[in-house]
Amino acid sequence: MSDTNDSTTTAKSSETTKSDKENGFDFKYEILPEEHTSFDLSFKLIVIGDSGVGKSCLTINAVKNIFDDSYNATVGFEFFTFNVKINDKVIKLQIWDTCGQELYRSLITNFYRNSSLAIMVYSIISKESFEDIDMWLRELRTHSNPDAKVFLIGNKIDLEDQRQVTKEMGEKFCKENKLSLFMESSAKTGVNSQKIFIQAAKMLFDDYNNYQKKVENSGQKQNNNQQEKQKQKITNKRIDNKPRKNQGGCC
Ligand code: GTP
Ligand code: MG
Repeated sequence: MSDTNDSTTTAKSSETTKSDKENGFDFKYEILPEEHTSFDLSFKLIVIGDSGVGKSCLTINAVKNIFDDSYNATVGFEFFTFNVKINDKVIKLQIWDTCGQELYRSLITNFYRNSSLAIMVYSIISKESFEDIDMWLRELRTHSNPDAKVFLIGNKIDLEDQRQVTKEMGEKFCKENKLSLFMESSAKTGVNSQKIFIQAAKMLFDDYNNYQKKVENSGQKQNNNQQEKQKQKITNKRIDNKPRKNQGGCC
């Protein structure tokens, strides 16, 4: 963690400063360029799901604001960063975009353990990719940190006419499995691509703040307890120093 502020990147990024209720956010955020180096908090994220559902396109669209129609299957994994300023704190998300091919699955499990949040992606035009989400969640829960948050994303909503998975199916899965968030997106049109990562940053930031408060409170409690014990010791001493009845006095 570092507490520095890089003013060189803020001029460019100020165009994206928002406090937008219309986007469903009730907090201020500012997306910073990918190359922004300083940060206050950093979290690791993993993106998983079947091959071809759009994991890489979604991540690249959020980070670089571009979309490529050609399909270049990820080999192993790729690394990206997404920087966002929330309430004056710069949050750096370190994103591991993994490949969906079974061949590399054992390689991916190593990344589960260190991730604070997992983004599970399926394609709304592939029922099979949605059915496989069950398997991805099992894999994740077997290998990940138990506190890790999980998002479910139904991608390719620009292809509505080919839809095989309804929005309700995604919502139901999210609710039944107590996931942190469900959203539909399109890497092609950019719908919700950045929003997914902003939400991830905000949730992790809130969690971090709550944890800090708990630590401070328990520290305060410990201090109070220690002070109380100290007080008792002093009080006991005073009592002990009082001349006691029937205890060897001069009379
Ligand atoms: P692996 O790396 O093999 O695991 O696949 P992936 O999940 O990373 O898929 P990728 O992002 O490479 O996208 C696969 C194909 O789907 C590409 O041809 C993309 O152009 C296309 N694609 C991805 N997202 C969308 C989307 O939102 N809409 C449409 N129409 N096509 C998309
Ligand atoms: Mg990929």
